[in-house]
Amino acid sequence: MSTTFAEVWAIAETVDGWLLPEQGRALFEAAQRVQPGTVAVEIGSHRGKSAVIIAMGLPDGVTLTAVDPFDDPRWGGGPESLSAFQANIERAGVTDRIELFRGLSAEASSTWSGAPVGFLWVDGAHDLESTLTDFDGWKPHMAPHSFIYVHDAFSAVGTTRAILQRFWFAKNVRYIGAARTCAKFEVGDFSLFQRLVAGIKLTRRLFFFARMVAIKISRRRGWHGLERFFMMVPNEPLI
Ligand SMILES: C[S@@+](CC[C@H](N)C(=O)[O-])C[C@H]1O[C@@H](n2cnc3c(N)ncnc32)[C@H](O)[C@@H]1O
Repeated sequence: MSTTFAEVWAIAETVDGWLLPEQGRALFEAAQRVQPGTVAVEIGSHRGKSAVIIAMGLPDGVTLTAVDPFDDPRWGGGPESLSAFQANIERAGVTDRIELFRGLSAEASSTWSGAPVGFLWVDGAHDLESTLTDFDGWKPHMAPHSFIYVHDAFSAVGTTRAILQRFWFAKNVRYIGAARTCAKFEVGDFSLFQRLVAGIKLTRRLFFFARMVAIKISRRRGWHGLERFFMMVPNEPLI
């Protein structure tokens, strides 16, 4: 019997990190669809929350390369995260499905000699330059029909800008939807009509982005009434 998402989430929710259940489900379902002969790649592993979910979803014989330098506390990384990561993937029983690249996304992509990438999960540094480096470094390694999911796509301004610069009305990457701030993109060769539809869909999502930014600013300024005004539900998460 195959593993269910409920079983996966029971383990993943005990791992420290930033991922909502609906985003975990999106990752799990994407991992299940990764084609044999390709690999999954994760940029930004922290303590292994998303790595556990992806690795547990992958079909037999498909591996996940987890890329993280584990040395930068600014982005939630640090040496103690590495030992937690190793302990968590062992506890989930997926150590043999994960290859760790201890370094930056740019180092991993520029030296990549592995199989084409069927699924790329982008959750490293969320500034514009780093996200553009992630997209530009990995795009040439993507399999012809593959998927790119991006976290904090509609809450971190740098990440949103990078998405608009590279994927808005793009020919080879189209927006297909989102689980809150987890944006889903498909890699392919799209017609003008498909590009237009995807571009309009992504444009509409910018209203969600504007709302996230408005909540963040209101919170920072202590404008609690305004913060509540922008929320759709009480204590709405910003991821
Ligand atoms: C938001 S956390 C990742 C969370 C993780 N995906 C999870 O599910 O808990 C960001 C991670 O990205 C790593 N990171 C930052 N810049 C990076 C880069 N350029 N390449 C790879 N990893 C990076 C940090 O060390 C940190 O562990």
